[in-house]
Amino acid sequence: MPWYKHINTALEERIARLARLFLAGGSGFIGSAFVRHAVAAGHAVQALCRSERSAAAVQALGAQPVIGDLLQAGAWQAQAAQAQIVLHFAQPKTFGGRVSKARALRYEADRQVMDRNLLSALQGSAVERVVYVSGTSYYGQQDPPPKDESAEPNPRGWGPYIVKAIQQLETFRAAGLPIVTVFPSSVYGAGSWYAEILASLKAGRTQLTLARRDPTLATVHVEDCARAILHLMEHGTIGERYIICDDRPPKYSEILAQSAKALNVPLKTRAVPLWLGRIIAGPVVTDVYDAHLSNARLRSTGFRFQFPTIEQGIPDVVRTWLSAQAR
Ligand SMILES: NC(=O)c1ccc[n+]([C@@H]2O[C@H](COP(=O)([O-])OP(=O)(O)OC[C@H]3O[C@@H](n4cnc5c(N)ncnc54)[C@H](OP(=O)(O)O)[C@@H]3O)[C@@H](O)[C@H]2O)c1
Repeated sequence: MPWYKHINTALEERIARLARLFLAGGSGFIGSAFVRHAVAAGHAVQALCRSERSAAAVQALGAQPVIGDLLQAGAWQAQAAQAQIVLHFAQPKTFGGRVSKARALRYEADRQVMDRNLLSALQGSAVERVVYVSGTSYYGQQDPPPKDESAEPNPRGWGPYIVKAIQQLETFRAAGLPIVTVFPSSVYGAGSWYAEILASLKAGRTQLTLARRDPTLATVHVEDCARAILHLMEHGTIGERYIICDDRPPKYSEILAQSAKALNVPLKTRAVPLWLGRIIAGPVVTDVYDAHLSNARLRSTGFRFQFPTIEQGIPDVVRTWLSAQAR
């Protein structure tokens, strides 16, 4: 075979592995990290955006924005149905401010409408794979030893408010949509809930904790979470669920201590009784739980973590966060 044939075959194989992706939630915390990794891997990424600001953000990451709102049917649905692979990261906002029961119920209702508008548009299309991003609050309280995806769900925190979305997802899966469901644990990075903790520590504020409760959190670095989702997009089995969490779940107190150490600031904490915590932060955020979860299924697909524990991951995130603050 002439030498150029080898190059051609290699090129063809590479192109065959590249896909046209359509993302919902590509401007969000995990979604934007995913866009960076997917674009770097050579995939063509379209990202649904409901504002010019989000459109500019995804464009800067190398994705093509598609304007639309998941809460409303629109031309974006036909665009989604033309993709090879659809990834759904979008959700109503969860962090920032007090989370009342009424806000959580609005989240529950809106999430179902958003999912339905996207998933119904894909029925009967040639979409090869749908990656649906859920969360481990659905599994909720899980005692040691670490539990896998077959564990009986015991939803806590935001979990009870995503149960209906997961039940609805099951009906789409049963109707034949090629869905892979991923369950990230608490995702820490230079954004979302963890950036609020870093900002508060850096400002020297006292960290409120719940008296007599130091929950065990399953965690994952945002870059590992995005890489794991990209990996499962290619290697996950249709119809399966995958928990995305580190090797060792830390206590909340360890996360605070590691973060203060990486920021080089003193850690000041004050334990408040549950009733006071509920008034300050609301009943959802204070419904804390121990998440002893296993990443064995994810690892069995060949995925390797860059930051397997918070000891490796938190200093990296703090460096990224500090340099973003300095800009
Ligand atoms: N963050 C975590 O620690 C964590 C942990 C476990 C699971 N998860 C799950 O991971 C997924 C992504 O979470 P995240 O933290 O990355 O979320 P996020 O930062 O809050 O981002 C949400 C995304 O959804 C988009 N969006 C919201 N409403 C929309 C609508 N009506 N139409 C179109 N787009 C809309 C937002 O767009 P705009 O730019 O327009 O706001 C944004 O891109 C969610 O399913 C979440 O439950 C997150």
